[in-house]
Amino acid sequence: MDLFVTCAKGLEPLLAEELESLGYSSSPGFRGVNLKDVSMDAIYRINYQSRIATRVLLHLHHFQCYDSKSLYNAALKIDWQSYVPMGKTIAIDSNVSHPKLRNSLFAAQVLKDAICDQLKEKMGERPNVNIKNPDIQLNLYIYENRGVISFDTSGDSLGKRGYRHESVEAPMQENLAAALLTIARYRGTDILCDPCCGSGTLLIEAALIASKTAPGYLRTKWGFQSLPEYDEAKWLDVKNQIDAMRVDLPKNCIFGSDINKQAVHAATVNLRSSGFHRSIDIIQSDVSELNPKVPPTLVITNPPYGVRLEGIDHLCHLYREIGHFMKRKMATEPKPTKGFVLTGSPLLAKEVGLHVSKRHIIFNGGIEARLLEFDIYKCSED
Ligand SMILES: C[S@@+](CC[C@H](N)C(=O)[O-])C[C@H]1O[C@@H](n2cnc3c(N)ncnc32)[C@H](O)[C@@H]1O
Repeated sequence: MDLFVTCAKGLEPLLAEELESLGYSSSPGFRGVNLKDVSMDAIYRINYQSRIATRVLLHLHHFQCYDSKSLYNAALKIDWQSYVPMGKTIAIDSNVSHPKLRNSLFAAQVLKDAICDQLKEKMGERPNVNIKNPDIQLNLYIYENRGVISFDTSGDSLGKRGYRHESVEAPMQENLAAALLTIARYRGTDILCDPCCGSGTLLIEAALIASKTAPGYLRTKWGFQSLPEYDEAKWLDVKNQIDAMRVDLPKNCIFGSDINKQAVHAATVNLRSSGFHRSIDIIQSDVSELNPKVPPTLVITNPPYGVRLEGIDHLCHLYREIGHFMKRKMATEPKPTKGFVLTGSPLLAKEVGLHVSKRHIIFNGGIEARLLEFDIYKCSED
């Protein structure tokens, strides 16, 4: 079986490294990586363990796409009875760039028609479409004349870990937060602080890493459970093996704060649903007044970077305060320790007032942002 494991733009090398560490070699693609000749075991493990991936797509059929007719005919080559049992609902995610196909929605419609026509003829019944909560999620990708129809073995996006019950404005995707922590080389040994924690995504992803908990731990529904090759006993065996590696999260190693009461509430609710609420403290505080009990050795944060000009003075002040916090409140032994700030604004980046040792390009919700890396030395002020 051949897979395409998708991820956010720019994260392909990081995803390839992660998969390598799980024992799978891949070759790079656009917004994802290709894996050849993998087993169901790999499908279970990658879905369950990849912190960076968005979806694990199983290729069903590659074809040359010239127009809607060739798409329709290619779809008929697949024996849909094996993948769409009677009574099950489907949804099609499509990403199409082709001069003769009007748009992605239209192409998805052509694929759906072919599936329905084939199943109607063979079984006398056509499947219903359920966009929000389908039993079977399919994927169509066409670029120029090359098309591929895939079965989405993840079902819902792998970014949806299952702990986010409350949110804030501009929350970070869970798998993006995990990617930032990977860039920050967080392994669970640092004292980590997010002083603008919002709904707590970076904190919870850090807790999952530190406790060696699989990112899919709370999920109950997976696309691969609808594959004809799915074996419940084997899947549970894989899950139990991975879960057996979990360790307790020590107290006071991860903490966060936010100026906004609703954000603190959201983070508290999410921490509770993740099960880490006893080990992680979250307080309401302005970053300028934050005085951690234990000096952090890693600060990683995603402050607002606004688009409206009227807030710019306020934001400049916030970024200066984040810089002061890192200079004054972080541990500097063994030095240097590290600070990371994700921002989409070069102007605000300057306000941190510290020398940037590296800039990592990150696409955050379609905006090209930078994860700024700072080395924090003793007396690094000025
Ligand atoms: C982009 S959001 C962070 C989103 C977060 N990463 C998440 O996943 O939910 C930025 C957060 O910074 C907080 N913030 C703004 N000014 C602050 C300040 N002076 N001190 C502390 N937090 C602040 C906001 O309340 C907001 O929750």
